[in-house]
Amino acid sequence: MATTIAISGKGGSGKTTISSMIVRALVEQSAGSVLAVDADPNSCLALTMGVEVEGTIAEIRDLTRDKKDNDGMDRSRFFEYGIQKIVAEAKGFDVLTMGHPEGPSCYCAANNLLRRYIDKLSNSYDFVILDNEAGMEHLSRRTTNHVDLLCIVAEPTIIGEVTAKRIAGLVSNLPIEIKQSGVIWNRADNGIAIDGIDELGCISFDQELYDIARQSNTIFDLDKDNPAFLAVKEILRTNLS
Ligand SMILES: Nc1ncnc2c1ncn2[C@@H]1O[C@H](COP(=O)(O)OP(=O)(O)OP(=O)(O)O)[C@@H](O)[C@H]1O
Ligand SMILES: [Mg+2]
Repeated sequence: MATTIAISGKGGSGKTTISSMIVRALVEQSAGSVLAVDADPNSCLALTMGVEVEGTIAEIRDLTRDKKDNDGMDRSRFFEYGIQKIVAEAKGFDVLTMGHPEGPSCYCAANNLLRRYIDKLSNSYDFVILDNEAGMEHLSRRTTNHVDLLCIVAEPTIIGEVTAKRIAGLVSNLPIEIKQSGVIWNRADNGIAIDGIDELGCISFDQELYDIARQSNTIFDLDKDNPAFLAVKEILRTNLS
């Protein structure tokens, strides 16, 4: 089974930035095959890593839903084929973009296919990195059912603390097996101690990291000794057993 690392947190806390640094760290360590999943409808993980995306799971799901049954290919094959086409292949890793969640016209057969196929796809990689939307809808929609490391990204403020507690509470009520979870304090030299929630590590404010988005650079342009990147590698080293 793939080692799954899920990244969650409040809007703007640094989820996509940290997810992409995790992907880069795993790729550079030749840790195994890596699938990066952008589970935020406002997708930008691929962009942060300089990868072009051809389509989203949502588009394939909607095409599958609207597909006529009598055109020669059954729904599940059509779906599988569609997803294979939208998995973007980059240097040393693949990217899968979820797109918008199912709307009120939810077609359960398509969603069941989606769940089944994502499980199957995920299991063909050694690592799956999930960049979640600000809420935990993706995890609660259960397109994932096991997580090895859940990283809750927060800033060490009252709001950060409240959000971290809320996410930890929400996740503990979901039928998802989570091996290890904790907070990554971002843009922070120190964290806040929270009862019952582990601290995975701290990532300081980093000007180079801040600038790459503004200069249309990607996470792979970051210096290999960048302190924020080194902090991410240390978090993986100490928390991924
Ligand atoms: N440690 C850091 N130092 C400096 N800038 C940072 C740091 N972490 C993140 N940023 C910057 O903060 C901004 C928001 O980060 P990011 O997009 O990763 O957040 P997010 O949680 O994914 O946001 P959203 O909820 O909108 O998806 C980006 O411009 C990013 O470059
Ligand atoms: Mg994001």
